[in-house]
Amino acid sequence: MIRVHAGDARQMEAVADACVHLVVTSPPYPMIPQWDALFARLGATSFQEMHDVLGEVWAQCARVLVPGGLIAINIGDALRTVDGTFALWPNHAEVLLRVRALGLTALPYLLWKKPMNRPNAFLGSGFLPPNAYVTLDCEPILLFRKGSLRRLARNDPARTRSRFSRAERDRWFSQVWADVRAERQGPEGRRSAAFPPEIPRRLIRMFSVEGETVLDPFAGTGTTLWTAAALGREAIGFEVDALRAEELRRRAEEWTPRGAPPHGAGPPR
Ligand SMILES: C[S@@+](CC[C@H](N)C(=O)[O-])C[C@H]1O[C@@H](n2cnc3c(N)ncnc32)[C@H](O)[C@@H]1O
Repeated sequence: MIRVHAGDARQMEAVADACVHLVVTSPPYPMIPQWDALFARLGATSFQEMHDVLGEVWAQCARVLVPGGLIAINIGDALRTVDGTFALWPNHAEVLLRVRALGLTALPYLLWKKPMNRPNAFLGSGFLPPNAYVTLDCEPILLFRKGSLRRLARNDPARTRSRFSRAERDRWFSQVWADVRAERQGPEGRRSAAFPPEIPRRLIRMFSVEGETVLDPFAGTGTTLWTAAALGREAIGFEVDALRAEELRRRAEEWTPRGAPPHGAGPPR
């Protein structure tokens, strides 16, 4: 079942304490111009204020997680010139520190290295030192746990059904994921910043068991929600953009686990 909440995930009263097993999400990235207007509507214009908005959502995620539940956050850093100075805006570091400050345990994280169309693209000019910049072609996927390890019965049937293969384990649990292509984005103004279904698919299989509940507080096009449902998990999503939320609700109503995923993501791989 997929439950869609149209509204701001900072207000998550509709979700009870300690009922979510896994959060898989990708928030709007602070200091990326695409999200300036949305953050401004939520009362945030500076790097710190934008992270204050996200921080309220992380606090809600911590509240609704079961003890031992995990949060996976895909967040890229931003590059931007402010007051004439070009700089890195370290979103992943800010999120790491803020979620730790909520009392969650930071775990070894993943680096999604997006295969580039132009692998040699770089910022700078020519071949002369010292003023060129390193290309940001990795996005961290940060991992956190609430409290101590979850203990499931050794022969729990849902857990047994949820096992991954040796090849999957070797690929998924190594730090760099270089084999997942980014989603093609729509034209400017209609860009969804959706991640490819393979990202939530791996995370959900790595960190949850069939029948458990997966939350995405920044649902967007619903990639996490459709993927979770296709994998036999319960899904909960929040989306503040009214049009997107309505579209999610309509598709969630159409959803049947054995049917094709309604956003055209294709069957689970
Ligand atoms: C990066 S996109 C998520 C994309 C998603 N992973 C997908 O695959 O489609 C972030 C989404 O979060 C939504 N959003 C931003 N702030 C929010 C908030 N406070 N509460 C709920 N949704 C929010 C935005 O409208 C946007 O659709």
